[in-house]
Amino acid sequence: MTQQKTWSQRFESALHPAIARFNASINFDIELVEYDLTGSQAHAKMLAKSGIISQTEAEQLVTGLEQIRQEHHQGKFNPGIEAEDVHFAVERRLVEIVGDVGKKLHTGRSRNDQVGTDTRLYLREQIQVIRSQLREFQTVILDLAEKNIETLIPGYTHLQRAQPLSLAHHLMAYFQMTQRDWERLGDVYQRVNISPLGCGALAGTTFPIDRRYTAELLGFEDIYANSLDGVSDRDFVIEFLAAASLIMVHLSRLSEEIIFWASAEFKFVNLKDSCATGSSIMPQKKNPDVPELVRGKTGRVFGHLQAMLVMMKGLPLAYNKDLQEDKEGLFDGVNTVKACLEAMTILLKEGLEFRSQRLAEAVNEDFSNATDVADYLAAKGIPFREAYNLVGKVVKTSIENGKLLKDLSLTEWQELHPVFAADIYEAISPRQVVAARNSEGGTGFAQIEQALKTARNLLKNTK
Ligand code: ARG
Repeated sequence: MTQQKTWSQRFESALHPAIARFNASINFDIELVEYDLTGSQAHAKMLAKSGIISQTEAEQLVTGLEQIRQEHHQGKFNPGIEAEDVHFAVERRLVEIVGDVGKKLHTGRSRNDQVGTDTRLYLREQIQVIRSQLREFQTVILDLAEKNIETLIPGYTHLQRAQPLSLAHHLMAYFQMTQRDWERLGDVYQRVNISPLGCGALAGTTFPIDRRYTAELLGFEDIYANSLDGVSDRDFVIEFLAAASLIMVHLSRLSEEIIFWASAEFKFVNLKDSCATGSSIMPQKKNPDVPELVRGKTGRVFGHLQAMLVMMKGLPLAYNKDLQEDKEGLFDGVNTVKACLEAMTILLKEGLEFRSQRLAEAVNEDFSNATDVADYLAAKGIPFREAYNLVGKVVKTSIENGKLLKDLSLTEWQELHPVFAADIYEAISPRQVVAARNSEGGTGFAQIEQALKTARNLLKNTK
């Protein structure tokens, strides 16, 4: 192992090797290397523009940093523990490449504003990737919904059969959830996109730096107004993890549904071989691993959010080393959401087959049209609560006689109430039950057509 460095003349001995390992973040913050290079290049240009270093020096720094980028791309930049973190690793390599002028790079900044800048540049890019993944997910949901307007599926409350639905309507609920996710991430982005660069260690700097220039070079929308806040704020990480947690909630709810839809008890979907796995011992099994893993991974993202909230709550101003702990959870949160969105999009696109025959039977084998009998009576002037009680009675006797509502004769209906006529059969057929729910936002086919059109336009206009 390379000789441990001492910090400055103030230190007489090097770090204990175990403490050096404990202290180091290079193993994970190497993820930030590209952003560190980009941030440092902007800083170098600003130093020259402000007359703090010469133009030639800035060019040497920028070129040297670019060489490190190339080395990184070629897999040749692999700093070890002795570098401590990515910021030191880059600076050390820069000095090796350009010589003493490399030692000027850190003028007027601190690793505290530097790491904040890097993390924001990283997250900015990741948010855009996740937003476009959300758009892909929505496109697949919408395609699937458009193909399944006429496919009926039991709708549930309390996981008890409630009222039949169009499968399109059911699927589009997830479109709406992920639409909010997409919007929420856009909102978070605005607070990620603020530059802390130039806040220094905590109090600003004595050099005549130009923070707005680095912000502009790096594409930041604004700069932190207070240097203490700038170096110690991690609200943006928490906000992102909260938004990521909600994405996971939505994916996990869908996963749960797919898992039981695929069970022998429901049999609503078949899993295609490309997206399911077998058992090592039970040859008949086909397991819904993708939705199970998504459901399982959800806890990790919630955990990272919780860890960040707890980590922040007792921190005095300004930077504290605790803040180094923000990275692993953030990176894992980002990677988990991306992996889950990718897998679920593939699953929906080509891994699921809705069993329309079975679904058609399912909506025809229960009492989920009972509300429609009550509505039928109420539409003919019988107060709803009275109608509700009458239908409750008829459901009870039908269950006792092993019949469904559609099996009752017209005489039986009319014994119940004289207003029943032959059109009761049409009124309680599953398709009509769905079609009739034509209130705005309901499952009625006319509503669905409208919802799908609106969704299609939304996707088109935000591409
Ligand atoms: N590796 C550190 C982090 O991730 C960089 C900032 C270190 N700053 C300091 N004052 N020790 O937070």
